[in-house]
Amino acid sequence: MSLLLTNLGSLVTNDPAQGSGLLGLVQDAAVVVENGTIAWVGAAAAAPATDEQFDAEGRSLLPGFVDSHAHLVFAGDRTAEFNARMSGQAYTAGGIRTTVAATRAATDAELDANLTRFVNEALRQGTTTIECKSGYGLTVADEARALRIAAAHTPETTYLGAHVVAPEYADDPAGYVDLVTGEMLDACAPHARWVDVFCENGAFDGDQARAILTAGAKRGLIPRVHANQLSYGPGVQLAVELGAASADHCTHLTDADVSALASGDTVATLLPGAEFSTRAPYPDARRLLDAGATVALSTDCNPGSSFTSSMAFCVAVAVREMGMTPDEAVHAATAGGAQALRRTDVGRITVGARADLLLLDAPSHVHLAYRPGVPLTAAVWRGGQREL
Ligand code: NIG
Ligand code: FE
Repeated sequence: MSLLLTNLGSLVTNDPAQGSGLLGLVQDAAVVVENGTIAWVGAAAAAPATDEQFDAEGRSLLPGFVDSHAHLVFAGDRTAEFNARMSGQAYTAGGIRTTVAATRAATDAELDANLTRFVNEALRQGTTTIECKSGYGLTVADEARALRIAAAHTPETTYLGAHVVAPEYADDPAGYVDLVTGEMLDACAPHARWVDVFCENGAFDGDQARAILTAGAKRGLIPRVHANQLSYGPGVQLAVELGAASADHCTHLTDADVSALASGDTVATLLPGAEFSTRAPYPDARRLLDAGATVALSTDCNPGSSFTSSMAFCVAVAVREMGMTPDEAVHAATAGGAQALRRTDVGRITVGARADLLLLDAPSHVHLAYRPGVPLTAAVWRGGQREL
């Protein structure tokens, strides 16, 4: 079955060879979907015959959002912590332990139901690829079950046993690192594609992070790092040195950190929901882009520091507060996320790519920033399937 999406007001291809600017924008465009992939892209007037047609009535089509950083296997709620922060209390890594306790106490079915709810919530807002981390179990069994549950929903699963030191090891962090690089890694590696560490004061230092990422890489997991979120530190440069797919947060960067990101292949993934929800200064996307780094935008969706699943919200904040143009922000939320996940089949609308598509209730992708907080999802296709 072939489907023609026609009468598109503007089309974001993310392929400059196909259209204008960074986004490869095509006006008055059409797209043909066949067998779950993009079969043809071009001017509506030149579209081939297909089995079915969908009239977009001048609305804008873009690749589904690629959310390359989320923590969705959890139970419980941290409203009180958020409320206290909005009355002046500071965010600390320690809050993670509240969610660890609730997550350990939940059944598999409860965790799966929560995860299903958040994946669907994201899908309704145009997110067609989502990464999901463990990190709220912190025992061998609880980390392994988090990844097993996540793997049923997404291939982009990340082992984050090194989120914080488990409470049982509070007096023996070295022992916890041994567990994370040993028995816990053995149990988790079969269910994960990536390995991540929260490299931060109150979590893991540079030496511990290096040991954990190296052990994960030996088991075939590709590193990504929570780096330089709350303070300056070694995370970003370690990520680049180890060839990590992405350094995430990048809020506190020295010039040497920026140069390292600009010269390496590690994507700088910015998570403005975290700064919004912790009332902290935003990362400087302009500085990274001007230096030549690749930037991705993601939600960091988690119950502590950033309880949003909205990529559109992240785009709007990045444009208003982080020095990005609307084109750069939309690129970072689609193609940037794909690069952070080392995927070439998503984050673009080109022949052969997955038919993961977001139709906006707007004539242009710029409306994602121009109309903040307004639900603009008109339709979503994932692998060619109409989801919404
Ligand atoms: O990315 N930084 C570490 N992890 C999460 C926060 C998790 C939490 O507070 O529960 C983050 O912001
Ligand atoms: Fe995170």
